[in-house]
Amino acid sequence: MEGLILISWLAFGVLCIFLFLLNWNYIRYSKKGLPPGTMGWPFFGETLKFLELGPEFMKRQRTRYGNLFKSHILGCPTVVCMDPELNRYILLNEAKGLVPGYPQSSLDILGKHNIAAVSGFAHKQIRGSAMLLIGPSTVKEQLLPKIDKYMRLFLQNWDGKAIDIQEKSQEMAFFLSFNQILEDESSVIYEAFKAEFDKFVVGTISLPINLPGTNYYKGLQARKNIIKLLTEVIISRRAASSTFHHDDMLNSLLANEDSSYKLNDEEIYDQIMTILNSGYETLSTTSMMAVKYLHEHPKALEEIREEHFMVRHNKSLEQPIDWNDYKSMRFTRAVIFETLRLATVVNGVLRKATKDMELNGFLIPKGWKIYVFTREINYDPYLYPEPFKFNPWRWLQDTSLESHSYFFLFGGGSRLCPGKELGIVTISVFLHYFVTRYRWEEIGENKIRYFPRVEAPEGLHMRVMKYQ
Ligand code: HEM
Repeated sequence: MEGLILISWLAFGVLCIFLFLLNWNYIRYSKKGLPPGTMGWPFFGETLKFLELGPEFMKRQRTRYGNLFKSHILGCPTVVCMDPELNRYILLNEAKGLVPGYPQSSLDILGKHNIAAVSGFAHKQIRGSAMLLIGPSTVKEQLLPKIDKYMRLFLQNWDGKAIDIQEKSQEMAFFLSFNQILEDESSVIYEAFKAEFDKFVVGTISLPINLPGTNYYKGLQARKNIIKLLTEVIISRRAASSTFHHDDMLNSLLANEDSSYKLNDEEIYDQIMTILNSGYETLSTTSMMAVKYLHEHPKALEEIREEHFMVRHNKSLEQPIDWNDYKSMRFTRAVIFETLRLATVVNGVLRKATKDMELNGFLIPKGWKIYVFTREINYDPYLYPEPFKFNPWRWLQDTSLESHSYFFLFGGGSRLCPGKELGIVTISVFLHYFVTRYRWEEIGENKIRYFPRVEAPEGLHMRVMKYQ
């Protein structure tokens, strides 16, 4: 009998602890006026459900609580916003205290001067420098010929080969940016730099636990080693400044003496790492998925080929793609937008409230994250009829789609992607040489995972053959 009573008390105790833990986050974050929603377990919150169910979790919570709901994901109390109008308001109103809210690991590894870590005047300055390096006029005047030269070589001798297009597009995205930043030293320090960059990227999406062996620790070490490599290059360039001229981004950063966007050395390191990191995944994933969608939609493939053969029509084989050629690739641009939309390469962006504020009548406490979740807009049937169909022609039939108020494929407001045109040019030139030189077929079943990021977990394997 006594044993039974003891077991009952124990069970009661466990139940109390369970209920206490279940409600801990709710009690801890209870405040009058917060948006509705659930907060999950202490520390973990609803992260596991979020990662496991992905967009379904968001849709389920939206059905229960509406377009603005609270949660606790990735270690932080967070308000998820799925209201297109409010998302637009958030993106356009950084000055009202809605600054970027990227995870600590990403900020630590990218550096305190990286563009997402700064706001106000500092952001204007770092962004101004970024625009000089990667903005549309630099792409037109300086980068396009280099991209063309690189792609020609990169896409040589693929005939008859079995390739993993995921691996290839990652290689392309990294080396191209790296070479634009450090043209002359790139081949010498490539191996050392790439090895560090791989650890660096994994570190930016890790939990910030600074113990040997963790991805965060390795990411911080990689950051140090990258700075060491860059410092050596900068020292030797400064020593030889009068004898050798370099035509790359590092040169612009070092030579920019009179510009109002002149950065100091620490800012230069962070700017370089940010540019390498920002373009890497977006470019490689979009290129890979464009190839996949084109393969699955022969009509679209036929039309894009036609467009690129038209560009080649009046050119010799050696003549590069110029700005007018690029501007004439209207269908290619549509394929790129449709790929970004349908695959949802970017699910949304993160912001943080710098003070208590009100959004749609709800309180958003200081320090809370705001997940500007734009993914569902991509599948809105009013904007994109038959939203789950790959239909690049929709961008040509309605040219206002690229400038409508809820076009967030490249973000919006003062943080609109400065690499947008560079990204589109790069993928267009890649597709130009790929579709005019080759045809291809997939080998076996290749799985694509769409959340939390778009990737082919075991690669996207294909056999490539000469087109004609
Ligand atoms: C298909 C290609 C690309 C997509 C879909 C894309 C998407 C985005 C998005 C959604 C943002 C907004 C982030 C935010 O608001 O917090 C952004 C910002 C940014 N992107 Fe891109 N991007 C692409 C290519 C590139 C490339 C090639 C570069 C550079 C080489 C680049 C550099 C940046 C930078 C530096 C920012 C930060 C801007 C700021 O905070 O002011 N992006 N991008």
